[in-house]
Amino acid sequence: MLKKFYLIILVALAVSFCGCDQTEKPKLIMVTNATFPPYEYIEKGQIDGIDPAIIKEVAANLGYELEIQDMNFESIIAAVQSGKADIGASGITVTEERKKQVFFTIPYVVSEQLIIVREDSAIQGVKDLQKCKIGVQHGTTGDYFVTENIKEPERFSNGALAVAALSAGKIDAVVCDREPSEVFVRQRKNLRLLNEPLTYEEYAFAIGKYNPELLEKFNAELTQMKQNGRLKEIVNAYRHNHSKTISEKVVESNTFLLVVKESFYLNFVKDGRYKYLVKGFGITIYITFFALLLGLVIGFAIAIVRSTADQTGGLRILNAICKVYLTIIRGTPVVVQLLIIYFVIFGSVDIDKIVVAIIAFGINSGAYVAEIIRGGIMSIDKGQMEAGRSLGLSYTQTMKYIITPQAIKNVLPALGNEFIVLLKETSVSGYIALQDLTKGGDIIRSQTYDAFLPLLAVAVIYLAVVMLLSALLGKFEKGLKKNE
Ligand code: ARG
Repeated sequence: MLKKFYLIILVALAVSFCGCDQTEKPKLIMVTNATFPPYEYIEKGQIDGIDPAIIKEVAANLGYELEIQDMNFESIIAAVQSGKADIGASGITVTEERKKQVFFTIPYVVSEQLIIVREDSAIQGVKDLQKCKIGVQHGTTGDYFVTENIKEPERFSNGALAVAALSAGKIDAVVCDREPSEVFVRQRKNLRLLNEPLTYEEYAFAIGKYNPELLEKFNAELTQMKQNGRLKEIVNAYRHNHSKTISEKVVESNTFLLVVKESFYLNFVKDGRYKYLVKGFGITIYITFFALLLGLVIGFAIAIVRSTADQTGGLRILNAICKVYLTIIRGTPVVVQLLIIYFVIFGSVDIDKIVVAIIAFGINSGAYVAEIIRGGIMSIDKGQMEAGRSLGLSYTQTMKYIITPQAIKNVLPALGNEFIVLLKETSVSGYIALQDLTKGGDIIRSQTYDAFLPLLAVAVIYLAVVMLLSALLGKFEKGLKKNE
């Protein structure tokens, strides 16, 4: 049984690795946070905008194959700095702090922070903000400005969510970069922009300090694009496009049913948005399934070591190692483990993020599975071992044929519980920019500014899977009882 598990996992990992395409062109990985129109946003499932367009062109000129990854804004500099990505292109403002971590190319555009308020707001400028609730996108220069000069802001994972909160009356103002602010205000009826710039900023692309050649090449390309007018052309094309997009306002209808219908259309049907959920669901299931297998293998191995050590006094060193593993894994949050495995342990390795997630969740789940199974083994009456031994079976044979099968049956409910927990825990995969089910809902949310339906849909899908899983486990248990 154990051998089969190993085999399945090896095959799965191999398949995932081979999934990386092997074109001859060197790959350039760009990271961005696609919630910042017109600089970067997702449309029809594609990341588009000024930044991707510029980088696409430069990459093509330099002979690179471009791969664009979407992640939280506050992780971008770290991703570039650690070598997870080659270039950060995300409307990133050049700041002294960031310059300590990464190189910046020459700037390609200037901007400023502005205040967005509700149409009927009495706020006239920065002087009125002291007593207000201010929303910002976490880790942005807007965040820094408000924190340093006004007060602790409410930090949202993207600007659109902050704006949605403002529009709904949950906060009083949002501080955000000019052009995205203009787009956000245009998409909402009840908002306006104050004309008082809080900062002067320059956007540039971030490149790792280990890669000065790339910096040089990019600067040469950008200089040329500036001189021949191509840069302006790209920027203007997107600006113009965005001033035209028909806003996605939910039409004010008076019947509840109509509102629900429209909102359903906007969140799931329009632009094929349901696909974010479908794709995310696939990834969630994929990660959960393989993490579960990995967790079982690790858990089994550790449980055997631990209970053998307990019962025979042997395997001291192995047992000690297992204990350290259990303490660390069970003593720290799974998100932190996921981030450490992604950014630190595999920091400079080009490895598929899905594989990273499988490893992280597998290692995490293994610790819990180990203790569950050990509990099961310990719960078997000592007489069973003695009986086995006196029948002439070795310790290993008794474990394998007599103890473990009984133990597994006893712990099945607890194991089932662990699988359910695991499935839901994978919802933090979005932290390493994986588009799992939860993140799929988030993407829809950031496009439609509607919190209710996308979150409800995501919750219902998890619930359905958990109910299905519980039912299957129940059946399985019943089957085992019959075989008794
Ligand atoms: N310019 C601001 C900064 O560098 C905000 C950038 C946000 N970009 C984004 N793609 N969400 O902090």
